[in-house]
Amino acid sequence: MARPRFGTVADMTKVVCPGSFDPVTNGHLDIIFRASRLFDEVVVAVLVNESKKGLFTLDERLELLAETTADLPNVTYTSFQGLLVDFCADNGIGAIAKGLRAVSDFDYELQMAHMNATIADVDTVFIPTTPAYSFVASSLVKEVAKGGGDVSALVPPAVLKRLDAAFGR
Ligand code: PNS
Repeated sequence: MARPRFGTVADMTKVVCPGSFDPVTNGHLDIIFRASRLFDEVVVAVLVNESKKGLFTLDERLELLAETTADLPNVTYTSFQGLLVDFCADNGIGAIAKGLRAVSDFDYELQMAHMNATIADVDTVFIPTTPAYSFVASSLVKEVAKGGGDVSALVPPAVLKRLDAAFGR
């Protein structure tokens, strides 16, 4: 009996890695890099969130992404507003790639994945974060950097420089 043909990872040639990236961390870069090995094209998409003021402007976040993903030829970056599934439809993107740091991420990520699959039939692929970055979050990095803690192992040098500048060092 012929089996119905379901999509394979190889069919999903273009994926989006969405997020706030305020700022991009080594944890994000780990996921972006690993997605770039799995898929033909990776679009890193920064959410424009007018109601949430970040530490870095949208342009600064994009500049940092440009600088830190420059060595990955199949990775591009852009910003988006509104629903992620609409961004996917407008850009011919077949799937969403998300990092999972710990079980605690899973509840909300699964909820979003189900919502996106329901409203637009867009699937989400979860990539487990490299254990060394399992605790890294932009919010914690900013808090520690603000307090003068050493985050040099958690962010790329370009981001470290910007954090130092943002916190007056
Ligand atoms: O880095 P973040 O802030 O955890 O990223 C969250 C993000 C941007 C991936 C998520 O909030 C999102 O997809 N926002 C776009 C709006 C949308 O589609 N909302 C419905 C989600 S089911």
